[in-house]
Amino acid sequence: MGCGSAMSNVPSVNKAKQSAGKIFEITDQRSTLDVRRTTANEIKEVKEGRIEFKDVDFKYPSRTTKIFNQFNMEIPANYKIALVGHSGCGKSTITNLLLRFYHTQGGQILIDGEPIENYNVGSLREQIGFVQQEPILFNRSIKDNVLYGKLDADNAKVRKVCEMANALTFIESNIEDLDKEKRIHKIKEDLTNEIDVICKKYPSFIQFKEKLLSKSNEVLDLLLQVFTKSDAKAMEIFSKDPRSLVL
Ligand SMILES: Nc1ncnc2c1ncn2[C@@H]1O[C@H](COP(=O)(O)OP(=O)(O)OP(=O)(O)O)[C@@H](O)[C@H]1O
Ligand SMILES: [Mg+2]
Repeated sequence: MGCGSAMSNVPSVNKAKQSAGKIFEITDQRSTLDVRRTTANEIKEVKEGRIEFKDVDFKYPSRTTKIFNQFNMEIPANYKIALVGHSGCGKSTITNLLLRFYHTQGGQILIDGEPIENYNVGSLREQIGFVQQEPILFNRSIKDNVLYGKLDADNAKVRKVCEMANALTFIESNIEDLDKEKRIHKIKEDLTNEIDVICKKYPSFIQFKEKLLSKSNEVLDLLLQVFTKSDAKAMEIFSKDPRSLVL
């Protein structure tokens, strides 16, 4: 490459350096809620699962408005509860606080009478299973996405959770191997049928049907729908568990 043409890349190199600098600034930050950090007297195991919010004050760091102002709630152990409220009232925020994604500004959250700060963050998160409102999938194999929840799970465990989510038969009838590239057309065809079945069973899905199908061209969208669809069944399974919290 001539010196002249090499020089034409200098602006791009500078831009890349600046962008990388910003990324490193973020990745170098140390979280005050570090999952890897352990302390001497921390609690690892949630024994009963009684949850209390006592006079909790909370606002998201990027916001000025408080989401919770002296919020109180108690969920006895082994109770299955549903939180109902208008969009934006703070239902998902309760889960975010239980998973310790944020610090509260006042009050206390207690699990079995112990302040949540006394629990090891990593162990706490391992003991809470939750199906997200908006599923996030990485553009990798289905197996990799499942493994994200438990990195050391073996194939048998991956299959087991896919089965629990009612996704295994669907995955296996379309994909020869969980690790292999997907056969998109077959998935799309089957997905359409599956969505029809879901709509019949859960009429409230009908309003999303067109939206789901129109977005089904990309692999990631398809996978998202598989998981979204599975949520309905998973909800059925999990709601039988008296310890589940449905938001
Ligand atoms: N990460 C965030 N950063 C800043 N504000 C947020 C964040 N997440 C949620 N909020 C805001 O906090 C408020 C409560 O949101 P939350 O998601 O808990 O509501 P929700 O009751 O779960 O609503 P929905 O029924 O729509 O799921 C909303 O005003 C929302 O815009
Ligand atoms: Mg929500």
